[in-house]
Amino acid sequence: MSPTMKALTYYGEGDIRVEDRPKPTILEPTDAIIRIQTTTICGTDLGISHGKNPEIEQVAREKTGEWNGRILGHEGIGVVEEVGSAVTNFAPGDKVLISCISRCGACENCQKQLYSHCLNGGSWILGYMIDGTLAEYVRTPFADTSLYPIPDDLDKEVGVFLSDALPTGHEIGVQYGEVKPGTDVLIVGAGPVGMGVLLTSQFYSPANIIVADMDDNRLQMALRMGATHTVNPGKDDVKALVDEVTGGRGVDTAIEAVGLPATWELCAENVKEGGNVAVVGVHGKPVNFELNKLWIKNVTITTGLVNANTTGMLLKAVQNTALPIKALATHHFTWDQLGQAWETFYNAEKNRAMKVIIDNS
Ligand SMILES: NC(=O)c1ccc[n+]([C@@H]2O[C@H](COP(=O)([O-])OP(=O)(O)OC[C@H]3O[C@@H](n4cnc5c(N)ncnc54)[C@H](O)[C@@H]3O)[C@@H](O)[C@H]2O)c1
Ligand SMILES: [Zn+2]
Ligand SMILES: [Zn+2]
Repeated sequence: MSPTMKALTYYGEGDIRVEDRPKPTILEPTDAIIRIQTTTICGTDLGISHGKNPEIEQVAREKTGEWNGRILGHEGIGVVEEVGSAVTNFAPGDKVLISCISRCGACENCQKQLYSHCLNGGSWILGYMIDGTLAEYVRTPFADTSLYPIPDDLDKEVGVFLSDALPTGHEIGVQYGEVKPGTDVLIVGAGPVGMGVLLTSQFYSPANIIVADMDDNRLQMALRMGATHTVNPGKDDVKALVDEVTGGRGVDTAIEAVGLPATWELCAENVKEGGNVAVVGVHGKPVNFELNKLWIKNVTITTGLVNANTTGMLLKAVQNTALPIKALATHHFTWDQLGQAWETFYNAEKNRAMKVIIDNS
């Protein structure tokens, strides 16, 4: 019998189990097996558990003719346990960061750093199309181009946010939104992704950062993380605050990090002429796109799936920053408490949770 490991597995809507699974093995020469040291749970994992991604089971059945559940998770750091014969950049014992986006590094899209559209089976696959990081061990495809070596002194709790939350906020929010020194920024949504936007926008020294969210606890945290102003759209008028802060002009960059028609509209109505609206939130429904009002404002509107092409840069940036990135980690669990970690994050608002850290070192 193959050795087993503890993992958090999705079987279908509302059916999440902590169970023993066989330890993964090398399948392709470009694979590595990583022993997970620190991992975390993403809102996307909650979305899967709520039935948002039925394609997970469909694709598994089409490929293998059976369905044995899927180990969730696409974030984590760990130690290389074993490498395939074609892996040259990593060896057993190396400490690595796992990216939420795997990439072959060679296809036309990877050559453009559009890793989220890797043509050779890369992109977001961990904890989705293949088993993920909420396990003691994970198989990572395209190891040479998808793993990052990490220094011994990198704080594990900061490192784990480099798998997804920080690159997503930075690339799709801050970079696409062209945040620049001295500008005014509105961030709608103060979940882990909105916080990733808030933290990484400060690398570019904007003048004002206004954060809007319905959760007052998260707004308090946003102030501690560098927001200059906060507003709860359920209680107060966002436009009135934006007008007060910007002298009636609107913001240079409005970043949507929720995924609802109402939050898109908040961004569209508060951006000033010549500004940017960057949509990071995943929208399940069409939005009211008022091209008749937007065209004459000369605004740039962007959106996309994270490429994780700035992960290496962020890895260096976080090592010498005073930004309170570690404060995103609100709850801590040992590996034996994997189920409790899931329950805590599942009820994040009640538990005042931002990111749960699960440690297996
Ligand atoms: N583009 C990408 O590559 C990418 C990657 C990861 C996540 N995402 C998406 O980013 C979004 C945010 O992710 P997250 O993990 O931070 O989610 P989250 O659910 O933890 O946070 C969303 C926040 O929005 C707030 N909110 C809800 N309704 C609101 C409203 N009407 N006005 C203002 N705030 C409101 C909530 O209180 C919450 O704090 C999700 O849609 C997620 O799917 C996109
Ligand atoms: Zn994620
Ligand atoms: Zn590729």
